[in-house]
Amino acid sequence: MKPSSDSRSAAVSPAWWKEAAFYQIYPRSFADSDGDGIGDIPGITGKLDYLKSLGIDALWLSPIYASPKADNGYDISDYLALDPEYGTFADFDALSAGLRQRGLRLILDQVLNHTSDQHPWFIESRSSRAHPKRDWYLWVDAIGFTADGLPIPPNNWKAAFEGSTWTWDALTGQFYLNLFSPQQPDLNWKNPEVRTVLYDVLRTWAARGADGFRLDVINMIAKAEGYPDAPRPEGNTDALLPLNCLSCNQPPIHDYLREMYREVFAGTDLYAVGETWCMGPENTLDFTSYESEQLHGAFYFYFHWAPTGPEQWENFYKLYQVCQGRSWLTVTLGNHDSRRSLSKFGEPVHHRYASASLLATWLLTLPATPFLFQGEELGLTDISFDSIEDYRDIQTVNRYHTALAAGNTAEAALASVQEDSRDNARTPLPWNDDAGRAGFTTGQPWIPLADAHRPQHAAGQVADSSSVFHAYAALLALRKRVKSLVYGDLTPLAEPSQVIAYRRGAWQGHPAVCVVLNWCSESQAWPAAVPMPQAAPLFANYTAFDSSGLRPWEALVFYESSGADG
Ligand code: NOJ
Repeated sequence: MKPSSDSRSAAVSPAWWKEAAFYQIYPRSFADSDGDGIGDIPGITGKLDYLKSLGIDALWLSPIYASPKADNGYDISDYLALDPEYGTFADFDALSAGLRQRGLRLILDQVLNHTSDQHPWFIESRSSRAHPKRDWYLWVDAIGFTADGLPIPPNNWKAAFEGSTWTWDALTGQFYLNLFSPQQPDLNWKNPEVRTVLYDVLRTWAARGADGFRLDVINMIAKAEGYPDAPRPEGNTDALLPLNCLSCNQPPIHDYLREMYREVFAGTDLYAVGETWCMGPENTLDFTSYESEQLHGAFYFYFHWAPTGPEQWENFYKLYQVCQGRSWLTVTLGNHDSRRSLSKFGEPVHHRYASASLLATWLLTLPATPFLFQGEELGLTDISFDSIEDYRDIQTVNRYHTALAAGNTAEAALASVQEDSRDNARTPLPWNDDAGRAGFTTGQPWIPLADAHRPQHAAGQVADSSSVFHAYAALLALRKRVKSLVYGDLTPLAEPSQVIAYRRGAWQGHPAVCVVLNWCSESQAWPAAVPMPQAAPLFANYTAFDSSGLRPWEALVFYESSGADG
C-alpha cells in the first residue's frame, strides 16, 4: 500500500494535551489511606512516585465531589465540595502540589448533564411548581392516567439504568427527566442560569488547580425537542425502549459547547475532553475541529467494542482520515464503564504478557492522546463474583433485578450481568502481596478484591523488568522521546489482516517509525510489504527479533531507516 501523500498533520501545532498520556483513576478503588476501605485523595498522593515511574503525564480523576453515590459520584450533590470519604481541600491541594512537583497535570471529571436528586438545586426545584429553580430541571405533565390512576409518562424512553426516564413526583404532580436513574435528574440546559452556574463550577476548579476536564455524557445535554418516542424495532413489544442515539447530539448542542468554550476554555491552556456517545468520524470532527472551538477531544467508543486487530485498525484509520490535521484524536481501550481491555481484546490465559504489551503498543503509538485506565498497566482482567451481593454498580444490580422480574432464575440473572458488569473494572488495585487486602486498604474494601488480581500486584511488577508494567513504562518513555509517535502522519504499511502494520512519519527531526502488531495467538509470516528492522527495535515484546516470522501477539516498534538514531 502506498504511503499517503497527505501531510495535513505537518501543520499541527504542539500542545501539552496532544503529547500527554493520561491515566484514569477511579478514586474509590485506587488506594485507601485511612483504612475505611474506600480509596481516597491522600491514597492517590501516596502513589505519585509510582505513577511518575510509569511515565504518565496527567491524571483524570473520576468524580470526587460531595455525592450520595447512587452512581459512585456521577450523582453530585455539591459541585464545589469534596466528598468527605475522599478527603479535604488540604488533601486536594497536597495532591495538586505533588503533581506539580513531578511535572504532572490533572483533569477532573465534571458531570454537567445531571445532578444528584439530593442536590439543593433539585430539592428546591421539586419543592413547588412556582419555585424559581423549577425550570432548572426538566418537568413535564402526565399525558393521562391509567384506569388505576397511575400517571402516564410522555414517551417510551428507557433509562440507562433501567425503568422509565420519567420519574413521577407526587408532591407537584409532574414527571422529571432522568436519562440514567431517578437519583440523577437531568438539568435543563435551555435555562441560561443553569449554564452560567455550571461554567462557574468549571472556572472555580480551574482556579483551584485543574488543568482541564473530562465532561461526562456531554453530548446528551441538549434533549430531543418534543421528546419523541424511541423508534420501535419491528416485532418489539417492550413498553420501554432504549434511546440510543436519540439522547445524543441534539440541537442546539454545538451552541452550548461553543458558549462553554468561550466562557471557560478560550484563551487558557485548559483541556476539554468529552465523553461522547453515538459519534462517527464526521460527528467527532463536528465536535472537535480546531476552528469550531467546542471540545479539544472526544472519546470514540467504537474502540471499546472492536475486539480484533483489523476492526481496531479500521475504526481508527477511518476516524484519522476524516480528522487528520483538522482535530486531535483520543484513544482509550477501557475505562470504569467497560470490561478490562486485556479480557476484551487480548489473550490473558496463554499470552498474558505478549497480548497486554501488544495492546499497550497499539494504544501508545497512534496519533491521538492515549488514556490508560488504572490497572491496565498491570494487565488486570475481568472479575466474576459468585453472588449479586458482591456487585455494587447501580446498572449491574438494576439489570439483575430486571432479569429476575422477567422470570429468570437467580443463577441466570447473575450470569446475564457478569460479563458486562461495570464492576469488572472497579475492584481495588492490588498494590502488594499482603494476603489480606493486597495493600489497597487496612480495612474492609467497599467492593471485594479480585483474587485473580493478587498475583499481578504493582510491587511485584515494578521489581520485575519483564512485567506488563515495564512494557507500558518503556512505551510511555518512547512516546515521550520520539515525537514522530505523537505528531507523525499515520500510513498503513500492509493490508490489515491479523497483522497490523503502520508507519508514523518523520516529524521535526524525529525519524519515521514502523509499528508491527501480530494481533492473534498464531504465528504469522512477516508481511512482504513491511520493511524489517535494520537495527535493534525501539520496543519489542519478545527478546530476540526473529526475521522468519511473527510470534503470537508479537509487537515491534522500530525506526524505518537504519541510519535513524536509536
Ligand atoms: C458516564 C460515566 O462514565 C458513568 O460511570 C456514569 O454512570 C454515567 N455517565 C452517568 O453519569
